[in-house]
Amino acid sequence: MAQKPLTPGSKARNTSLNLENQLVGGRYQVLKAIGSGSFGDIYQGLSLKDGTDVAIKVETADAKYPQLMYEAKVYEQLAESPGFPALLHFGCEKNYNAMVIELLGSSLEELFNLCKRRFSLKTVLMLVDQLLLRLECVHEHGFIHRDIKPDNFLMGLGKHSNKLFLIDFGLSKRYKDSGTEQHIPYRKDRNLTGTVRYASINAQQGVEQSRRDDMESLGYCMMYFNLGKLPWQGVTAANKKQKYERILEKKNSVSIEELCKGFPAEFALYMKYVRNLRFKEPPDHVYVRQLFRILFRSLGHQYDYIYDWTQLHSQEKERLRRDREREKEHDHHRMCDRVAYHGRDRDRPRDRDMRRTSTQYVMPHSYRRMSSKYDRDWIGDGALSKRK
Ligand SMILES: Nc1ncnc2c1ncn2[C@@H]1O[C@H](COP(=O)(O)OP(=O)(O)OP(=O)(O)O)[C@@H](O)[C@H]1O
Ligand SMILES: [Mg+2]
Repeated sequence: MAQKPLTPGSKARNTSLNLENQLVGGRYQVLKAIGSGSFGDIYQGLSLKDGTDVAIKVETADAKYPQLMYEAKVYEQLAESPGFPALLHFGCEKNYNAMVIELLGSSLEELFNLCKRRFSLKTVLMLVDQLLLRLECVHEHGFIHRDIKPDNFLMGLGKHSNKLFLIDFGLSKRYKDSGTEQHIPYRKDRNLTGTVRYASINAQQGVEQSRRDDMESLGYCMMYFNLGKLPWQGVTAANKKQKYERILEKKNSVSIEELCKGFPAEFALYMKYVRNLRFKEPPDHVYVRQLFRILFRSLGHQYDYIYDWTQLHSQEKERLRRDREREKEHDHHRMCDRVAYHGRDRDRPRDRDMRRTSTQYVMPHSYRRMSSKYDRDWIGDGALSKRK
């Protein structure tokens, strides 16, 4: 188990290692930093064996709470299941540990920002279905995640670009013994582990976390996507301890009806269901998934993996195509002018554009700008991720 006691207000942050261009495990080249978490940095890298892109998560060898080897072991156990990045390598280098995993795309937090912090019900429900499947899988393997939040949900890349992945198992924990299958005991003296905004009420009250807490955090994520903001966001206080207390007060005072007002009853039903789960009770994943699947069908939606951002991407693609056509037309006219001009007066000095041969093509400024933005959206650079 990764034992990382995070007390409100204090967070272990490993110092940054600048690993650009270094070789990890003898065959992964570090390219550039793509993210930074509470426990270390994440780089994009390249497998020198087959040229595939990878993600490399590192921590210093003298980290106060080493977690990477533990995280690698969890990924190893989840390897056969869809929606978790493949573990490619774990190793200890001279002054740091490195875990190499499959490179993924943008996080739901980044995509939420891209979509102006609103997701349609259709997008939310397609995501919820996959998130429930991921949690079910984690729980079936005997783990609880303990840091369920939009920054830890990443879309895949390439042929997996429609698939939602769950990452970041540094705070995860076994809730039952792998041999005896015995559930961990109830305790009420725990510091908060995870991210306060999405933490369950029990977790904030110091109760040992179990499967129900992942489910409750997922409920807050759903409402975050529905509302754009949770009622306890923006709470201020003199210090972090007081801020956490005020967040807890607000979580307790906002009723489920109030939280889910204006959205289909299934969201309130889900919240009530998860808040009423007992400590050791196995969540009925099938029931909750069905609840949202029936809602999805009753709203007449198609499970076509067209998310809100897919449409943004295709609008951008369309703009790009139109730009290209316009440019081609423009070039064609220029070529016609050129022929006519040469025919008329051969001695007149030609301008810079005219000196280009027909095979040279200078990318127009507008196209260059659009194309790099388009590329960035699709490769989905990881953004900085900090606990809120
Ligand atoms: N496989 C990956 N592909 C692409 N980006 C990734 C990958 N893994 C992590 N990232 C990026 O790096 C960020 C931090 O990674 P991760 O959550 O694993 O680290 P962490 O130290 O546990 O972070 P935190 O505690 O802030 O959640 C992610 O939110 C994501 O943006
Ligand atoms: Mg994370």
